[in-house]
Amino acid sequence: MKTINTVAELRTTVARWRANGERVALVPTMGNLHAGHLQLVEQAKKNANRVIVSIFVNPMQFSNLNGDSGDFERYPRTFEDDCKKLSAIDYQPDIIFAPSVQAMYPAGFKRETRIEVPEISNILCGEFRPGHFVGVATVVAKLFNMAQPDVAVFGEKDFQQLLVIRRFVTDLCFPVEIIGMPTVREKNGLAMSSRNAYLSSEERERAATLYQTLQQAQQQIEAGERDFAMIQTQATAKLEKTGFRPEYFEIRRAQDLQAATDTDKQWVILAAAWLGEARLIDNIVMESPD
Ligand code: PAF
Repeated sequence: MKTINTVAELRTTVARWRANGERVALVPTMGNLHAGHLQLVEQAKKNANRVIVSIFVNPMQFSNLNGDSGDFERYPRTFEDDCKKLSAIDYQPDIIFAPSVQAMYPAGFKRETRIEVPEISNILCGEFRPGHFVGVATVVAKLFNMAQPDVAVFGEKDFQQLLVIRRFVTDLCFPVEIIGMPTVREKNGLAMSSRNAYLSSEERERAATLYQTLQQAQQQIEAGERDFAMIQTQATAKLEKTGFRPEYFEIRRAQDLQAATDTDKQWVILAAAWLGEARLIDNIVMESPD
C-alpha cells in the first residue's frame, strides 16, 4: 500500500495498471475511517483488480461558497490512524491518494468550475447546508478525472449524496459504475459516521433513538398508515423529547427525493438531527407495500 499526494503520480500509476488491462476502483473518503469505510474498500476489492482510497477533507463541501467555512477546521483528521487501519485489513487498497488542498484546487475552490445538480441539491440536507452538494459533486468529479476509476463505492447512509453523484455521473456521461453499500451500524443501531466522534458516551447511547424513530415510521407505513405528515410530526416530537435538535424528518420518493405518493415503488425515510455537537443523518429505504 503506497501513499500518493500528487495528481501526476496517481495518473502515471493508474495508466500503468490500465495498460495491463486491470480494472480500477475508487473509494472516496474524508478519512477518520471506521468499519463502514472498510466495507466500502472490501466491496471495491471485489469489483476491481486495483483499489484507490482517497482521503481528502474537502473544504468546498463545508463552505456555503460565500466565505463561511462551516465545521471544516474541526473535522477530525486522523491520517496516521487511517493508514494503520487500511494496512491491517486483508483487502488492503493499493494506493491511498491524499492530495493537498492546493493540489485539489490550484486556483482556490471559490474561483474554480463547479458542478451543480438541480432539484435534489437544495432540499433536505442541501437546504440546511447551502452549497454542500456542489462541493461534493465537484470534488467527486475531480477525483474521478484524477483517478480514472471504472467503479466507485459510496455508503448509502449519505443517501442524498449518493443520488447527487449518480445523477451527475449520468448527466455528464462519466464512464464510472457507482456502487452504493448498506449503512454499517453500531450494536445499538447508530449509523457509523466520522461525526460520531463528537458524541459523548452518554450521547452515543441516546443517538440510537434516531434509527429507532426511523424504524417506527417504517412500521407505521407497513401497517398501512398513509398520513405521512402525521408520521413526520410524531417522529420529530419524539426526537425533540430525546434531546435532539431535528433539522428534518421526511418520507420521500426514493428515486428523486420528491414528495412521497401512494403510487411510488420505493420510499426513503430520511432524518437529520443535531445531538450535542454532532449533526447526525440516517435513512431507511423501503419498498412500497402497495
Ligand atoms: O462522504 C464523504 O466522505 C464525502 O462527502 C466524499 C464523498 C468523500 C466527498 O468529499
